[in-house]
Amino acid sequence: MNKPLYLFANWKMYLTVEESVALATALKNEAAVISDNLTVAVFPSTLAFTKVAEALDGASYALGAQNSYWLDKGGYTGEVSAFMYKTAGASYVLVGHSERRHVFHESNREVRQKVEGALAADVTPVLCVGETLRERKDEAMEVVVETQLRSALTDIAWPETKELIIAYEPVWAVNTGESCPPDEAARMAALIYKFVKGLVPQVTPCVLYGGSVRGDNVQNYLQAPYIGGVLVGGASTKFESWKDIVNAAQ
Ligand code: PGA
Repeated sequence: MNKPLYLFANWKMYLTVEESVALATALKNEAAVISDNLTVAVFPSTLAFTKVAEALDGASYALGAQNSYWLDKGGYTGEVSAFMYKTAGASYVLVGHSERRHVFHESNREVRQKVEGALAADVTPVLCVGETLRERKDEAMEVVVETQLRSALTDIAWPETKELIIAYEPVWAVNTGESCPPDEAARMAALIYKFVKGLVPQVTPCVLYGGSVRGDNVQNYLQAPYIGGVLVGGASTKFESWKDIVNAAQ
């Protein structure tokens, strides 16, 4: 494929430090085959972050954090700030991932603070949005996604030079093996693109799809005109299945 694409690997809480370094080392050894149209990033656990950064040093992989706190430093036990991730080499941070919203009950308000905190720390937030199965059955997915976007982005001072990346991840498709029908993901991506462009007119948004992406279905998403990449969980944590995805996108 020729269009610019983001391939983001969210390792979640799947890998120990040793396993993370082993995978990063294998990726570095393969990195020469990544074509120029791809921006590839890994999102390791906090514990493995600096070791993975060392293992990937010099490779064409960017680094991202899975979550971050919006203040730089202070008495916030258990948190790691976007500022701290920046100093450790992060270019991106996931904000409002469905597991953060639904397992840890992160609110739209907190998501907004995390987006602002990331921008202040000069880390690009990857804003995740998506509806639950219940909301889908109620045909409320557009309303839910627009509310999440409006809450995170209305009147935000987005620097013109900063990428604006939204990941559309229907909650029922994340971590379930049940990926979203590609025409449906394409329709939602177009809607998100236009809605975000209306909220932040000075920047051209990029919409990713996430939710049970694998090597054998990734092209169906990447072909859609408004989909500019994928956010991959489970399939990004094993060298072979990740390689299938990268090869399909080249
Ligand atoms: P999955 O996760 O690919 O395992 O469904 C996607 C994500 O959490 O970003």
